[in-house]
Amino acid sequence: MSLQHQAALAKKYIRYYFKSGNRHDVHSPFVYTLLDEVLNDRAFRPAYTPVEDLRKRLLSSDEVLQITDLGAGSLTGATNTRKVRDIVRHAAKPPKFGQLFYRLIQYFQAHQVLELGTSMGFSTAYMASAGATVHTIEGCPNIAAAAGKNIASLGLSGAVQQYIGNFDDELPRVLNGMPAPDVVYIDGNHREEPTVRYFLECLPHVKATSCLIFDDIHWTDGMERAWETIKAHPSVTLTIDLFFIGLVFVNPDFKVKQDFVLKF
Ligand SMILES: C[S@@+](CC[C@H](N)C(=O)[O-])C[C@H]1O[C@@H](n2cnc3c(N)ncnc32)[C@H](O)[C@@H]1O
Repeated sequence: MSLQHQAALAKKYIRYYFKSGNRHDVHSPFVYTLLDEVLNDRAFRPAYTPVEDLRKRLLSSDEVLQITDLGAGSLTGATNTRKVRDIVRHAAKPPKFGQLFYRLIQYFQAHQVLELGTSMGFSTAYMASAGATVHTIEGCPNIAAAAGKNIASLGLSGAVQQYIGNFDDELPRVLNGMPAPDVVYIDGNHREEPTVRYFLECLPHVKATSCLIFDDIHWTDGMERAWETIKAHPSVTLTIDLFFIGLVFVNPDFKVKQDFVLKF
């Protein structure tokens, strides 16, 4: 990330910080309860420890992987090398978000999760340890293999189904082969067109009660536009912008469409 990009993101974050609301700004009972019981619940859960122990171990790993980059970092699918510890530092969602995913899965009693972007398996592990079966897609075979080992080391292999390939090819296949997802987490290829396309591909497969999570919604102007397009889609009845991620609901029971920006 260039200094210019970092400065632009910091500016957006400051704007978000001052404009985002808390429980007093929320009049929707669904969102109020979600805020109170899930977003603001920072109590420790024993399931967090093994995942964070793994993170500590990998952050001191000297292992180097050959990387196939199919995402927003490259337009060519170029291959290069990266240290495992750098992948963990830069690509894995921080504990605060992994643990939020854990609580969301438990709160929604989500059984089936679809994840785009396994990377080293941190978000996968949090969601699988919360009790869901996670169907997760990763384009780089070496990263997927490393994630498989990480997931196995946590004893979670039985709850994770890994798919290796480009989201563009794998997503329709996975959607057709899995039960309707309760949660969809889109965390890879952070570009406008593919993000909107993945959303549209998922829509016919989700339930009224499903929650879709989009990562890095303010990362670039393109991702801002993708987020606005998703928010404006007629099927979308509720969105919650937490800056680094956005939650999307399509439940028609939410009669009045609402878009929240909440502090997290
Ligand atoms: C930000 S990382 C995922 C992090 C992970 N969800 C976590 O929190 O631990 C995104 C991953 O998506 C993969 N990816 C990006 N674009 C892709 C594409 N078009 N097809 C398949 N995989 C892709 C990258 O290789 C990378 O490992």
